[in-house]
This record gives sequence, C-alpha cells and structure tokens, in this order.
Amino acid sequence: MRKHAFALGGASLLLSVSFIATQAQTIETTTPPDPPEFAAQTEPVFVGVTDIMEYRALDSYNEPEWIKTNFVDTGKLPPVEERLPEEPLVFKTGNMPDGVGVYGDVMRHVIGGRPEGWNYIGGQSQGWGGIDIGLSECLTRTGPLFMIRAEELEPMPNLAKSWEWSEDGHELTMHLIEGAKWSDGDPFDTEDIMFYWEDNVLDPNVFPLNGATPETFGQGTKLEAIDEYTIKWTFEEAFPNQYLYAMAYGTFCPGPSHILKPEHPNYSDNTYDQYKNAFPPEYLNIPVMGAWVPVEYRPDDIIVMRRNPYYWKVDEEGNQLPYLDEMHYRLSTWADRDVQAVAGSGDFSNLEQAESYVEALRRSADDNAPARLQFGARTIGYALRMNFSGNGWGEPDAREQAIRELNRTLEFRQAITLAVDRQRLGESLVRGPFTAIYPGGLYAGTTYYDKESTVYYPFNLEQANAMLDELGLTDTDGNGVRNFPEGTAGGQDVEITLLANTDYSTDTNLAEGVIAMMEPLGLRVIANFQQGTARDDMAQAGQFDWSVERQGAEVVSVVQGTSALAPTGPRTHPFHRAGENDELDLLPFEEELVQIVRDFIATSDNAERAELMKQYQQVFTENVYSVGLTQYPGALIINKRFRNIPEGAPIFMFNWAEDNIIRERVYVPTDDQPGHELHPQTLPDVPGGGGPVEG
Ligand code: GLA
Repeated sequence: MRKHAFALGGASLLLSVSFIATQAQTIETTTPPDPPEFAAQTEPVFVGVTDIMEYRALDSYNEPEWIKTNFVDTGKLPPVEERLPEEPLVFKTGNMPDGVGVYGDVMRHVIGGRPEGWNYIGGQSQGWGGIDIGLSECLTRTGPLFMIRAEELEPMPNLAKSWEWSEDGHELTMHLIEGAKWSDGDPFDTEDIMFYWEDNVLDPNVFPLNGATPETFGQGTKLEAIDEYTIKWTFEEAFPNQYLYAMAYGTFCPGPSHILKPEHPNYSDNTYDQYKNAFPPEYLNIPVMGAWVPVEYRPDDIIVMRRNPYYWKVDEEGNQLPYLDEMHYRLSTWADRDVQAVAGSGDFSNLEQAESYVEALRRSADDNAPARLQFGARTIGYALRMNFSGNGWGEPDAREQAIRELNRTLEFRQAITLAVDRQRLGESLVRGPFTAIYPGGLYAGTTYYDKESTVYYPFNLEQANAMLDELGLTDTDGNGVRNFPEGTAGGQDVEITLLANTDYSTDTNLAEGVIAMMEPLGLRVIANFQQGTARDDMAQAGQFDWSVERQGAEVVSVVQGTSALAPTGPRTHPFHRAGENDELDLLPFEEELVQIVRDFIATSDNAERAELMKQYQQVFTENVYSVGLTQYPGALIINKRFRNIPEGAPIFMFNWAEDNIIRERVYVPTDDQPGHELHPQTLPDVPGGGGPVEG
C-alpha cells in the first residue's frame, strides 16, 4: 500500500515522501531527485512528415556518372529510371540542412559486434552499430521522428507509402511502393511481406532478430495480401495507430523472399537451425532494400558495402540516393569506435559509454578536432532485470528455480533496490552532471515521465538487510552469505548469477557495481559475463537469474516498442516470457501493467495516454519491476566533412542515430572527399552486371 504523506523542500528539490508498509516494515519512499542540469543539448528544427518526404514521379533521374558509363551504357544494368519504382520516395530539399548533395565517399563506422550472418528475419545479428538498420527497410520509419512536431507525431511512410483505416477502425489497408526492386533487381512485393509474416513472425520456431512476435502487432491480428502491392491488417482493437510504430525498425523489415524462402523448413528439408544459418557473413551480395549492399567481409577486420543500384529513394533533382558510394564497418570494439571517431580515423560514434566522456569531450573541444560532438537528452540508461518466469522459461534447475521465486517476491525486490546506491554507481562511471538516479520504468525528461508517479526507494542498506532477514534468508553456516531456508534448494548459500555484455565496459562496470553492493546484503552474486551475441542468446532463451542491461526505446518514447512494456504476449517481454505450455505466469501487478499497456495501445486520446503512463510508472516502480540503475545523455560524434546531419539528432530516441540522421541523404562535398573508398566505381553483384568485387 502506498500512502501519500507530505511534500518536502523547495522548488527544485521537491520530493514527495511516502510510506510503503510491508508485512513487518515501513519503507520510506520518495519521488526521485531531479536529474542534474545538463545544458549541452541542441534542439532539433521541428517539422511535419510531409516537409521531409513525399512519393512522386520526377521528369528525369540521375545517378553517378561512372554507373552510367560503366554499367548502363555497356548494357550491364537497365537505365536508372527503369530501376526506380513508379513513384520513388523523394526527400525534399527544404528539409536537408545543407541541400542537395553530391556523390562519392564513405562513412567509416567502427563496431564492437560481429556478424552472425545475413538472415535478419531468421534471427541473425549482423553485429549492430547500424549495419542491420542500413540493410533493412521497413514498412514505416521512426528514427527521424525526433524532429517531428509533437502534435503531428506518426510514423513516416517507407516501404508502405500510404495507408487507410476502415470506418470501424479494425482494418488497415496499406499500399506498398510499386515497382521497387531488391538490390539484385528482383521485384519487391507482397510475397516478401507475407513470407516475413507467415513463415517468420507467426512461425514459433523462428525468432526474428529484434523479437517480432504476433502479439507485437496485437492479439489476434491478421495480415493478408490483397494484390501485389496491397496488404490488409485486421485488428481486434479499433484504430490501434500504435502498431504503425511496430511496423518500423526492427519488427517489420521484410527479407528477400526469393532468396530466403527456398531455405525455410516449410519449403525445404532444412532444419530451423539450417535456415537461420543459411547465409553466413561470407555470403556476399545478399539482396537488400537498403541503400548499401555487403560486398566484402574479412573476419575481425571489416565489412564493406557498396551502393545499391536499385535503391528507391531520390532527391528533388532526381538524383538516385544514396549520395555516399560506400560504407565501412570496422570490426573492432565499441570503445574503439569512440576513440577513432574522435581521432578522425573513424567517422561516426554514438558516445554512450560514460567512462570515456571526459576524454572524448576534452579532445573534441579543440577547434581543429576532426569530429563534432553533440550531446542529447538522457536517453541511455541501465537496469537490473530479474527473471520473472516461475514456470520453466529457460529450464531452471533447483537453485535457479529458488531464485525465480525470490525474484517474484516483492519484499525481495524491495530489499535489492534499497541496497543499490545509485549516486555512487553513477559516479563510478563518470563524475559531473551526466548521470542521474534512475529508479526504473520510464526515463526522467521524456514525454510520458511523471515524477509524482515515480516511486523511488532511497539507499538504505540496514532496512534492506532487515527485509531479507524477514524473508527467512539467514546466514545459517556463518560464511557471510545468506542461506535459503531449509527445504529450499537444499538450504544452500543464496547465489545469483548476473548476466552482462562484455562488449561494453559500461555493462560490466555497472554489473560489478551491483555485485559489490549485494555483498553487504549477504547475497553472493556471480558474474556471468558473455560476449554480445552469446549474451543475447542466453537472455532470449531465458537462461539468466539476473541481468544488467541497457534499456530499449520503449522507456524513452513509449510509442516505439510499446508491446514490450509488459508481457503482452508469450514472447514480447525481455524478462518474463512463457514457460511450459506457452503459458505466462503473471503476477497480479503484471496483469495490471499488461492491461495498462493494452489500454494505451487502444486509445489515441493524449490525455488518457498520459494518465495511463502515470499509472504504468506507479505500478512499475512501486513493485520494482526492474531495478533502475542510472541514466545519462549520449553524444553523437560525427566527422566534420559530412553534410545534411540534422540538428539535434539524438543518439537514441525512437531509434539509434544511424537511422535518425537519414544516412541515405548524407553527403561529403567533392573537395572534402579524402579518397577512403576501397572499391571505387564498383557495384554489388547483379545478375548480368556488376560482378563481384575482386578481393
Ligand atoms: C549498438 C551500439 C549503439 C548503436 C546500435 C545500432 O547497440 O551500441 O550505439 O550503434 O548498435 O543498432
């Protein structure tokens, strides 16, 4: 029970104090302190979607001169107007910060992940850092929405160029771009959409990379193809506009059915594993709808991509995009991405590991620094998540099952949250005005955040210990670690494994911090530190007791990734998925969260939505659904030679900066092009043309 008691303090330090009564304790909670002032933020120029783009046929089209001479004039490729859709997507000059661009040059990315292969819809990671964002085009697009006026906020059309709702709001008809082609010239049409939906999303044996499940689009939702370029959605809810966001990256980005389908178990003798792994990184020229195609891969070294000759977006002068001819992804570490971007040997970084902020800021402050660094809002944050499945997800043994039971006990979670000193944790990453106390749930400073609805359990180790005593967890053998009560897990020491990602020092540093803070509580927390892909696989399979991780877009924007805010389906939620018989053993407060999220999706009334998110935040934080740790701002680092970088582009909001900056319309003035291209004047392999790049 939470009872509002009284408010304390002056204007900036207004903390409401409340008391929560447990069986034997009264816990004093407050609202969280306001995050420290952080001034270095640039505001975007706000516009409407139609200011950015439209679909229209232009009188004529252009492309790089060398493509015309070497490929079109020699008969290897059809002329550009035949390669474009009837009405290409046209980016308007008025919204380009530096106007119409020129061709050439490379954006040199550095990433810490490694590609598993190219079957994104079959669940393979390409190593992140913008690779899959660039390869996949999706029905709608949300990254650039950071610059859309709040009252006009709606996903941008992309592969779906328009849509309309039936009168009763249960049907949504979408019209795809007509006559667009995959990068190998194969037509893009509803066959690609239906293969994605029926054989990947609906097939419970396939786990598309970013976790699309049927419930991501609502319970009972149906999708059918009307003709080559029309699809129809049928929803149980009326006007669930919200699902338009789920049709963006990463949950509705179809793959090339003409290549993938023959390998899918429904159409071959392959197992699901063979299907997933049928396109290893060495398989080059995988057909994409994105602006660049992988043409070279050297393990632990580099992935090189060249421009897609069939890309379906142009500028207002009819120049086929992208402007940049090549993309590099150096296979290194995430920390190296910061270092190289600041030094100028790389071109782009999302500065997000707080440990390197001071050094990056110092080096970028120099007028001669090769890159500019721009901070955004506090949209990077971490939480400690507990595995909530009590009925078998991840096949727990006896000890693990006993931990799950604890995770499902409110007093246990309260004890854990009380034992976390967030101030110290934040400062251990970086000193200064960067980190803020994060109690969990929605981030402070975002649209739907409401401080008064946020229950914060201030650091109180003594009370945390008392609560664990009451739960009957006492150190019976005097070794400094509490034991399970006799009869539970053999009365052994309470040992908890903590999953974290070794690709990022922030992840492991915060995890180490949590481990240290659990020691005076008499809990032995054991690091299970895994390299990114292995970590993701274990998290996905439910093989963890606890996990420390960076939070997704749903706690920033709420409208992106909404169905993941609660266990709305058997596999939609990061730390509570179905166990035996595909059943979810939801706790009563989780049922409440699910209902709130469903109500949110079902209404477009802004006042109602704001109210629902207050309730969400209250139920979430009061029940310690996850133990928030810290939140802080990230900075976009980008080499100064690039043009058309939108002002105020955040590194993370509806999507990552790699989508937000609209890379297909970024360019480098001819005189500033340093000649970094590794495969100048070549194209990906296209039947009858191009030819594979010589290595
Ligand atoms: C990783 C990086 C992010 C961003 C994303 C893009 O997660 O840490 O900064 O580049 O990849 O998917």
